[in-house]
Amino acid sequence: MTMKRQLLNLLAVVTVVTLFGDVTARDLRNVTEPKTPQTCTSLKATGGDDTKAIQKALDSCTKGKAVALSSGTFYSGPLNIPSGVSLLVDKGVVLKAIPNPELYDLGAKTCGTLNEYGVGCKAFITMHGAKGSGIYGKGTIDGQANVTMTGKNLSWWELSHAAVVAKNFQNNPMLVQINNSMDITLYQVTLINSPFYTVTAYETIGWTVWGLTIRAPASARNTDGVDPIGCQNVTIAHCFISIGDDHVAIKALTAPSRHISVFNNHFEHGNAMAIGSEVNHGASEVTIANLTLNGSRIGIHIKSNFFRGGHVLNISYDNICIINVSHPIYLDMMMNHLEGPNMPVFHNITISNVRVLTKGIFGFHGISNSNPVEATFKNTHITKGSTFSEYYAKITGKLTEDASGSSCGYYGN
Ligand SMILES: *[C@@H]1O[C@H](CO)[C@@H](O)[C@H](O)[C@H]1NC(C)=O
Ligand SMILES: *[C@@H]1O[C@H](CO)[C@@H](O)[C@H](O)[C@H]1NC(C)=O
Ligand SMILES: *[C@@H]1O[C@H](CO)[C@@H](O)[C@H](O)[C@H]1NC(C)=O
Ligand SMILES: *[C@@H]1O[C@H](CO)[C@@H](O)[C@H](O)[C@H]1NC(C)=O
Ligand SMILES: *[C@@H]1O[C@H](CO)[C@@H](O)[C@H](O)[C@H]1NC(C)=O
Ligand SMILES: *[C@@H]1O[C@H](CO)[C@@H](O)[C@H](O)[C@H]1NC(C)=O
Ligand SMILES: *[C@@H]1O[C@H](CO)[C@@H](O)[C@H](O)[C@H]1NC(C)=O
Ligand SMILES: *[C@@H]1O[C@H](CO)[C@@H](O)[C@H](O)[C@H]1NC(C)=O
Ligand SMILES: *[C@@H]1O[C@H](CO)[C@@H](O)[C@H](O)[C@H]1NC(C)=O
Ligand SMILES: *[C@@H]1O[C@H](CO)[C@@H](O)[C@H](O)[C@H]1NC(C)=O
Repeated sequence: MTMKRQLLNLLAVVTVVTLFGDVTARDLRNVTEPKTPQTCTSLKATGGDDTKAIQKALDSCTKGKAVALSSGTFYSGPLNIPSGVSLLVDKGVVLKAIPNPELYDLGAKTCGTLNEYGVGCKAFITMHGAKGSGIYGKGTIDGQANVTMTGKNLSWWELSHAAVVAKNFQNNPMLVQINNSMDITLYQVTLINSPFYTVTAYETIGWTVWGLTIRAPASARNTDGVDPIGCQNVTIAHCFISIGDDHVAIKALTAPSRHISVFNNHFEHGNAMAIGSEVNHGASEVTIANLTLNGSRIGIHIKSNFFRGGHVLNISYDNICIINVSHPIYLDMMMNHLEGPNMPVFHNITISNVRVLTKGIFGFHGISNSNPVEATFKNTHITKGSTFSEYYAKITGKLTEDASGSSCGYYGN
């Protein structure tokens, strides 16, 4: 090898390393923009209930290929995407979830009602035990949570509000639920009006969410955007998310969540870029880079408590811009002061290259002198007049009150 060649190789390695600052606190796969699979069948909407036709096409599609919804507005009840198969929603096409709770009921006849559990419905689109499945295309999947339910006098979202008044839980379907799967891709599709969490993946290894647009009104309760729950090797990139609850919430309810990259995203109204509150199996090795947040309630949020606490560590935030957010950075080990046996521990959290362009409330809440919230700030510029809510906090570095500029720019799709 020539000297020049050796130098180029060295430079290449340095570039890869500096891309994320650290090479292990991220998705360990080398993720690039997904490619849409070839089509096995194309379907045109009939205008009626197309559930059977879509499900039949999915069940008979060759592995590695996709069923294309190629024109019109489709109405469907719950769908299951089999292992190896994908759904392609073409540009201009809309796939609408029929708002009939009976179709989603898991057997107890509770879907579409209020009770003390809130787990009575299956999702609109499910992938379970799947490998290499996905959802692709520039079309739209509409959860129709704003439309009156069949046989009821209120919509899914109105039911969610009724739960607040009744002090219990709504039984509403998620829009997309992935469980126990591998190598799953969601690419480009627009997801709107989810009755509950928009996309969740449980115990899934290898998950790419790229170029999605997710929308719900700010008032729509529990409409999280993308939730990895006990997942590893996850990339969430180039998305636009504007919803009613957390844009992204990394949780670790039944398994650890680790090796997660969240980069080049833009979030508008909604709750926060969150880790927690359920982190009882540990959340670690996460990088959140290149994020613009405009108009959310919280910006960077790590939240837990003794109810479902655990270790949150090796988390890195880099190049984040926040504007019009009342609580720009909130690291809270005592959220809602919930009690339980699971002590949260937050440490080795690094927050670098941050600009917060409007004043806000910054929160750092630890548990005790021996278990403080620990975070390191580098090159962090906030707006003059901000306030701090701090107890048991071990903060290294400074949040300098000298931010300037009136625009965050835009990452996202
Ligand atoms: C990712 O790419 C880097 C640089 O090309 C390479 O060293 C590494 O082995 C790749 N990792 C995987 C899991 O493919
Ligand atoms: C994550 O991806 C890396 C690189 O492909 C792989 O070595 C590792 O086994 C994956 N993690 C899990 C839990 O499978
Ligand atoms: C529901 O929302 C969609 C778009 O998000 C809109 O086109 C439709 O008019 C709304 N329907 C009702 C009943 O509000
Ligand atoms: C809607 O249904 C609830 C419960 O069945 C009933 O109490 C209420 O009066 C109904 N409201 C309207 C406007 O029909
Ligand atoms: C995921 O699937 C496993 C079995 O494979 C099941 O035990 C678990 O309850 C499922 N979780 C969800 C959230 O559906
Ligand atoms: C962050 O954005 C910059 C351009 O603003 C780009 O060079 C860099 O690759 C991005 N980082 C990641 C992790 O995508
Ligand atoms: C700030 O965000 C809130 C909530 O999303 C929004 O209602 C308000 O119009 C925004 N203000 C500005 C100046 O953008
Ligand atoms: C946190 O990072 C350190 C240093 O890279 C590493 O030794 C440790 O295993 C990481 N912790 C977890 C839970 O991955
Ligand atoms: C802290 O986490 C970063 C990744 O975000 C890792 O590179 C570093 O080694 C960790 N430091 C310690 C002391 O564990
Ligand atoms: C924030 O979002 C609002 C509403 O979408 C938009 O009007 C405004 O220009 C954005 N502001 C910045 C600084 O990006």
